[in-house]
Amino acid sequence: MCGIVCYVGRRQAKPILLDGLKQLEYRGYDSAGLAVADGQSVAYHRALGKIVELERKIGDIEINGTTGIAHTRWATHGEPSERNAHPHRDMDENVYVIHNGIIENFHILKRKLEKKGVRFRSETDTEVLAHLIAQNFEEDLEEAVRRTMGQVEGTFGLAVIHRKVPGRIVVARRGSPLILGLSKDGHFAASDVSAMVRHTNEVVHLQDNELATLTVEDFSISTAQAKHIERSIETVEWRAEDAELNGFPHFMLKEIFEQPETVENAMRGRLEPGEGVPKLGGIVPVWESLKECRHIVIVACGTSYYAGCVGMYVFEKLTEVDVEVELASEFRYRKLNFPANTFIIALSQSGETADTLAAIREAKRKGARLLGIVNVVGSSIARETEAGVYNHAGPEIGVASTKIFTSQLTILTLLALLLGRHQNLSLTEGVEAIRALQELPGQIRSVLAQANHIEAIAQKYYSANNWLFLGRKFNYPIAMEGALKLKEVSYIHAEGYAAGEMKHGPIALINPEMPTVALAPLDDMYEKMVSNIQEIKSRRGPVIAIATEGDERIKEMVDDVIEIPATLDYLNPILAVIPCQLLAYYCASFLNRDIDKPRNLAKSVTVE
Ligand code: F6R
Repeated sequence: MCGIVCYVGRRQAKPILLDGLKQLEYRGYDSAGLAVADGQSVAYHRALGKIVELERKIGDIEINGTTGIAHTRWATHGEPSERNAHPHRDMDENVYVIHNGIIENFHILKRKLEKKGVRFRSETDTEVLAHLIAQNFEEDLEEAVRRTMGQVEGTFGLAVIHRKVPGRIVVARRGSPLILGLSKDGHFAASDVSAMVRHTNEVVHLQDNELATLTVEDFSISTAQAKHIERSIETVEWRAEDAELNGFPHFMLKEIFEQPETVENAMRGRLEPGEGVPKLGGIVPVWESLKECRHIVIVACGTSYYAGCVGMYVFEKLTEVDVEVELASEFRYRKLNFPANTFIIALSQSGETADTLAAIREAKRKGARLLGIVNVVGSSIARETEAGVYNHAGPEIGVASTKIFTSQLTILTLLALLLGRHQNLSLTEGVEAIRALQELPGQIRSVLAQANHIEAIAQKYYSANNWLFLGRKFNYPIAMEGALKLKEVSYIHAEGYAAGEMKHGPIALINPEMPTVALAPLDDMYEKMVSNIQEIKSRRGPVIAIATEGDERIKEMVDDVIEIPATLDYLNPILAVIPCQLLAYYCASFLNRDIDKPRNLAKSVTVE
């Protein structure tokens, strides 16, 4: 979704801002713009489309200035157009604002401003901010922003410059992430560390209802009530090269191939092989209550939700805990009764997904305890949960989530194993689990080694308009995730189904034009999956099986087989999802799709 990058310092702002915007491209956007101040005037440019359009528009225009703000917009109010792109200005062209989030009372504010003679140039909610700040400005820009914060309802991460206040940027947040970056050459602010990680690893997280003023030498943070805040500086572990393609054609493929390392990172320092018990330092603060817990609700969206669905089966296998999984977007509409000591586990790559945040806030109101499994350190979900476990998977740039899914499954398994070992799971089962977990990175490598074979299968079927994915138990959520991946990046229609449901409807679709991906590793669901495969074959539907290495029987039945190494039944999903990711990737590639930035999608969904 929208991205913010700002710089005030000793260097020219334009190249830093344009580069920062490019680092934010993965979030999904439809237009971009920037404003750079040189102490007297403000250079102001916007363009519809990609950052290259903005660069083309700027062309050789000389833009001098060491203070600037820049934005990528993902339309919510008003169509994608240059007119609606940020920054937005007040009528006197003094105030320039960029904004992520939604101003909910903008209609009322707009009407009031229009009555006072303000003429609006765009259809956006953001433009009210520019006019309000201009009206509230006397001498102090921070104070004008503070007053404006008191007038608006909704969510914002915003940044403002004023033509008459040189060398100063004011930023503020309520519900949309904003991070300050500190370097000896100046100060940054961005909605995402990837926009500034080339320049600095030293960051400060702004919290809700806080403002910050940045100058070349200094930064200061205060609350909406003007109380000064001291906040410690954190060092982010992401490196600039994490956000580069390193020879891969797309981030999605690079991230699929990173999975041996990211699964390893999810376990690093967390395994205790002799005892068969994982160590999870992040949950120590809640451990005394967690180990007694008998009811867990997992909340998440999209791919993270499907990871939660696998997690439910894993918890049921390894623990005595009752587990439910809820789509975060539906959670608030349920009337759930939480038994005492219920834990909510929020799964989120970004840690900023608005629905997931809203769900945990609602759960907290109802008295539940909160855990997070989050990739982005210091993100809102990481901060609003009592304890949790980080993925340590590095930035996920491809819009379609891949490496975080397998990392989430690994961490959920560690958590279930930890609880299970304090409940009914034997030492032998714990030791066996850890041994199998340790084998996963090597096994993932052997699945990835079949990339050419999987590409050839994709070539055979990419022109099919509809696909079906079937799985049972641990692999039922993998069927849904496989279908989601294919839809997202290739725009091919796909359905993920519990294989047992096929006879209750989807079987009507089976014909020689519709491929089915059957998740059929050797586990206690195998025979039932074989029956489903035969039902499809007898209706002349093509079948691609994801099956255990050496399963000769399935080869006789299906059109194509992708083999995964043998592992414990509850770890199969971590291996089985990888061929699904690769099938989606290669189909999208044959169809020439914009794989890392599929149409209409955004990386971090910060609106409900
Ligand atoms: C799918 C995808 C989305 C996200 C969902 C949740 O490939 O990326 O479905 O999984 O928007 O995002 P996070 O995990 O950041 O909360």
